[in-house]
Amino acid sequence: MHTAPDPDPAETTIERVAVLYALASEAEPLIERLMLAEQPAVDPALRPRHFAGTVGTLHVDVLVNGPDPRCGTDRVGTDAATLAAYMTIRKLAPDLVLNAGTCGGFAARGGTVGSLYVSEGPLLYHDRRIPIERFALQAAGRWPATPAPRLAAAIGARPGVVSTGNSLDATDDELAFFERERVSAKDMEACAIAQVCAQCGVPFVAVKAVTDLVDHPEPVQDAFLRNLRTVCALLGERMEAGVRWLAAHPRRVGEL
Ligand code: ADE
Repeated sequence: MHTAPDPDPAETTIERVAVLYALASEAEPLIERLMLAEQPAVDPALRPRHFAGTVGTLHVDVLVNGPDPRCGTDRVGTDAATLAAYMTIRKLAPDLVLNAGTCGGFAARGGTVGSLYVSEGPLLYHDRRIPIERFALQAAGRWPATPAPRLAAAIGARPGVVSTGNSLDATDDELAFFERERVSAKDMEACAIAQVCAQCGVPFVAVKAVTDLVDHPEPVQDAFLRNLRTVCALLGERMEAGVRWLAAHPRRVGEL
């Protein structure tokens, strides 16, 4: 169990994994496949929904942000993700945090609807602009992800650069950023969760499934809404494979 920053996290055996989702529709297929049971809310004020169970000896927690009480829509974006990540680490002490969900993809990097990516290299923020030299790194994020080539193979995912922002669409500046940084997956949570994990010393991997193409003339929201259900079903199937791979025998972080 993870209780404090580990002097050699590569040697940590993964006994507890937490999977963080923003949307209920992204999380439901995995919850059903693993027959996880709903638990009392981890935090009564913010009420992210918590599901848990075991696969072999692996303990699995799934956290879903839950709805904004004012409008009923699932909470998305970096604020909710940061809170959920912090709460999860403090209260559930995972050895590994995964953030699974949908993303915008890029035809320029070979992405198509249904492409799956596992985070490669540092995670980025694409919508934080602070043109003062000493703030540049904070603005760009560049928070680390744990290398996970074997987990990616078990899931059937490619490695890809993930970048996070708080909008579904993209500005011209952001489109230039995606090209410069060779981004494959544009999401709304991963870098925020990576930031919390890095500061708490917990290994982190993002798994993202493409619902829409950022570099395509069709508005992303149209493709996102059209493809959400089928891509979430695919993501659930692949996440189940990933969790079963993690549970197949004791895995160390360095073996991901
Ligand atoms: N999730 C799914 N599609 C997305 C996009 N285009 N941008 C951010 N998050 C997404």
